[in-house]
Amino acid sequence: LHPTHVPYRLAASYILSTLQQYDVPHPKIGIICGSGLSGLSQALDVNTTVTIPYAEVPGFPDVTVAGHAGEMIVGMLHDQSTICFRGRFHSYEGHDMNTVALPVRTMRCLGVELVIVTNAAGGLRDSFKVGDVAIIRDHIALPLLCGKNPLVGMNDEELGPRFPPTSNLYDAKLQDIVMAASEEVDMKEYMHKDGTYAFVSGPNYESKSECNMLKMLGADAVGMSTVPEILAAHHAGMAVLCLSLITNKVVLYDDPEGKVEHANHEEVLAAVAGRGAQLVKLVSEVVKRVGKE
Ligand code: 6GU
Repeated sequence: LHPTHVPYRLAASYILSTLQQYDVPHPKIGIICGSGLSGLSQALDVNTTVTIPYAEVPGFPDVTVAGHAGEMIVGMLHDQSTICFRGRFHSYEGHDMNTVALPVRTMRCLGVELVIVTNAAGGLRDSFKVGDVAIIRDHIALPLLCGKNPLVGMNDEELGPRFPPTSNLYDAKLQDIVMAASEEVDMKEYMHKDGTYAFVSGPNYESKSECNMLKMLGADAVGMSTVPEILAAHHAGMAVLCLSLITNKVVLYDDPEGKVEHANHEEVLAAVAGRGAQLVKLVSEVVKRVGKE
């Protein structure tokens, strides 16, 4: 495959020509919206936005097969051109890891320098409450350790090195900015500055023993996304910020009285809806502060 024909370069050149047409500068900041968090695009100044459906982007998969559609919105956020991906490709939908990483690699070809990734996650740490936000500062990704990994395959040397480190994946300075920004938007009481996220394949929620295992391994939150994308982003040299919204407490023990709420998608979406507007404000404030750095 000639490098100009790989999907992310095809996609980026199409997006860039569309942006030029509308006189929108190429984006420096990228946002990936987690489940139910597509409202994050509302942070962008509506008078400046261009919407590009995934369906019209060459190199992007035909999502009519996998389920929900998606779109990217490009526009200004506190004087910085920002691209917001509403809808991502999950491996549990049957997408291969290169497709899961496609949005971030496309961003890199667009000139994005910072990727902000959000997700809905189950809470493993005892002190986490539904509606809390954990800044992710490390991860455990069993599928990636075992070969289901977006960096497997021929390495694109123009993106990054064959053997990238990951001990420097999460940008500590950005994490400090989030904590400071959370005070400004009255979210400090919900914040945890040091989460470890466990990436699992899904689509089922974990068994009780699996939850106990992940907790024992040092994970604080568990979810079905994010790590493949941020690994590809880090590989390609972009700064990474990752925020998990805790949407439910995982079930760790048997419940003979049958009172416990078992994990379910409705519960996840309800928790996201309850905190969505505040998260928009938080991400917006973070971008504002990043711009002043
Ligand atoms: Cl409990 N598990 C996983 N894998 N993903 C989730 C979740 C739990 N809660 C929200 N997303």
